Amino acid sequence: MRVLITGASRGIGLELARQCVARGEQVFAGARNPETAHELQRLAKLYDLTVISLDVTDEDSIAAAVNTVSTKTDALDVLINNAAINPETPAYETFGELQAEAVLQVLHTNTVAPLIVAQAFMDLLSKGANPRLINISSDMGSIAGRSYGGSHSYCMSKAALNMASRGLAHDLRRRNVIVIALDPGWVQTDMGGASASLTPHESVSGILRVIDSLTLKDSGKYYDYRGGQHQW
Ligand SMILES: NC(=O)c1ccc[n+]([C@@H]2O[C@H](COP(=O)([O-])OP(=O)(O)OC[C@H]3O[C@@H](n4cnc5c(N)ncnc54)[C@H](OP(=O)(O)O)[C@@H]3O)[C@@H](O)[C@H]2O)c1
Repeated sequence: MRVLITGASRGIGLELARQCVARGEQVFAGARNPETAHELQRLAKLYDLTVISLDVTDEDSIAAAVNTVSTKTDALDVLINNAAINPETPAYETFGELQAEAVLQVLHTNTVAPLIVAQAFMDLLSKGANPRLINISSDMGSIAGRSYGGSHSYCMSKAALNMASRGLAHDLRRRNVIVIALDPGWVQTDMGGASASLTPHESVSGILRVIDSLTLKDSGKYYDYRGGQHQW
């Protein structure tokens, strides 16, 4: 399997890279600062892993990444849009304190960038075997599950990513590309925090089981890492 993972420098993206190479997959690991992505550099020496410079909010960086990947493969089987941000200053997420620039930055990274990245890599992905576009979402993107306030930009960004995933599933069906939104669960990473319920290993093991099982009839669905479906 030829896999491209965005935001692979740490957290869930790094664990995805680790588990994929351990399975023998060919991995393209996107990192916005490859020179400081030491664990990826170590994996690159041991396995079939290429560290790709990729800032998902920078269209020049995306174009350069497509060129780099194209020199190493003529197709991708799986593209995982994993990179995302969650504002570090909670005040910016509180109604009354919201700042447009901060909200737009979250929407750019978490919603617009996955669409633009998917578009840029689509020629490679649509040539893959059982091609799959995996948009890493969150249960916080569920409108039906929104029984709390706050976290406005992050929740909006993931709800909109869910909508994009559903629309792309239709756009890409004629090219046989499967598109899903996938919630990794609450995971012990910089974003999830130390008290999260899952280790990265547990979450990613589940994510890979879901990815392995996908067929075209799953396209346009909103799964969690255990293979259950979320309400939109
Ligand atoms: N952890 C959870 O509990 C949880 C729950 C639900 C959903 N998720 C989702 O799971 C995914 C991974 O989250 P995580 O917990 O692993 O987060 P994390 O530990 O904060 O890691 C985020 C990753 O995204 C990268 N990134 C951020 N902005 C980027 C950009 N503009 N271009 C390229 N890469 C960028 C970061 O790179 P740098 O190292 O360069 O900053 C880092 O590799 C995200 O989509 C997140 O929303 C996580």
